[in-house]
Amino acid sequence: MSEMDKEYKILEENFDKECQVVFSSRQLEDLRVKYLGRKSALAQLFSKIPELTLQEKGVWGRQLNILKQKITTVLEEKSRAVKDEEETMDLTFPSYGKEMGSTHVLSAVSESICSILQRLGFVVVEGGEIEDEWHNFAALNIPLEHPSRDVFDTFYLNVKEKNRGKYLLRSHTSPSQIRVMRESKPPMAVISPGRVYRPDEVDATHSFMFHQIEGFAIDKDINFSHLKGVLLHLVQEFFSSDVKLRLRPHFFPFTEPSAEVDISCIICQTPNSELRTKNSGSKCSVCKDKGWLEILGCGMIHPNVLEACEIDSKQYKGFAFGMGVERIAMLKYGINDIRLFYENDVRFLDQFT
Ligand code: PHE
Repeated sequence: MSEMDKEYKILEENFDKECQVVFSSRQLEDLRVKYLGRKSALAQLFSKIPELTLQEKGVWGRQLNILKQKITTVLEEKSRAVKDEEETMDLTFPSYGKEMGSTHVLSAVSESICSILQRLGFVVVEGGEIEDEWHNFAALNIPLEHPSRDVFDTFYLNVKEKNRGKYLLRSHTSPSQIRVMRESKPPMAVISPGRVYRPDEVDATHSFMFHQIEGFAIDKDINFSHLKGVLLHLVQEFFSSDVKLRLRPHFFPFTEPSAEVDISCIICQTPNSELRTKNSGSKCSVCKDKGWLEILGCGMIHPNVLEACEIDSKQYKGFAFGMGVERIAMLKYGINDIRLFYENDVRFLDQFT
C-alpha cells in the first residue's frame, strides 16, 4: 500500500469516528475546519497530486474528490440534525431532582431528645449491645427469678463469663449506665441512647429490636422533684409547651420509689399544640379518650444499684428514667405501626425529612 493509500484510509476512518461524537453546531464547525479547511489532511493529500504520474493523477484526483464530496454531504446532514435538536431543546425544562438521603425519623427523634437533655447538662454515653447478666440484671437489683431474665424475654448468647454470667443482647440501655457509674465518680448526669433487644413477637406495637434513651443523675442532694422538673422540661420542649405531666406509682427493681409517666394527650388535651389535629370520629384515635398517654418509666435509683457500682448510698442519691424512642415517635407523628420504621419504604421515610 502506498503512503498516499495509508493516509487516505486513516483520514476516512478518523472522520467516520469523530462524526459519531458531534452533538452541537460548535463541534460541527470544528470538524468542518479539521476535515475541509486549508490545513486539513485532505488538503494535504490534494497538494501531493502534482508529484504523481499522469495516470495516478487521474485516479487520485477522482478519489479525493469523491471523499471530499462524501465529507461535505455527511457534514451537511449532521448540521441539519444538530440544528433540529438545538431548536427543540428547552433549556428551561426542569431537570430530574437528585435523590438525597436524610436522617431516619428514629434518629431524628433520638437526637432531638438527647439534645434537649444535653442542654440541661446530661452527657451522652453509648454502650455496647452485647452485655452480660451481671450488668444487664444483677447490678440493677433484678433478682434471678425475675421474668425479664427468662429465655422468652432475653436473647442469650452461648457464651458465659466467670462471675458475670451469660452474655446476652442487652434488653435495655441501663447496663451502659451501670458501666459509667462504676467508672466515674458522682456528681454525674448521663443519658444512654441505643438499640435494645427482646424476643417479642413482631406486631404493630412490638419489635425484637427497638431503641431506648435512658438517663440518670447522681449527686448528694438529688430528689424526686429534680426528676419531675427534668421530665416536665423534656416533654414540653419535645412535644408542646402546654403538655401536662402525670406520675403514677409503679414498681421497678432498680428504682424506689418508682413511677410511670403520662403526658396529657397531644391530640385531644393539648389546646395549643401544633400537633393537634381534628379527630374524625368521636373517640380520640391516640389516647382512646383517656386523655393521657404513657411515655416512660422513672424513679429514684435503688440503694442496691448505687452500692453495686461502689457509690455510697448514704451520701449519694440519684434519679433515673427510661423511654422507648419508637413509642415517642409514634405518639408525636401519629404512626400506628412500629414495623413502618424498619421497612425502609421511602414513601414513609420521606414524610419526616
Ligand atoms: N430500664 C427500664 C426498661 O428498660 C426503663 C427504666 C429506666 C425505668 C429507669 C425506670 C427507671 O424497662
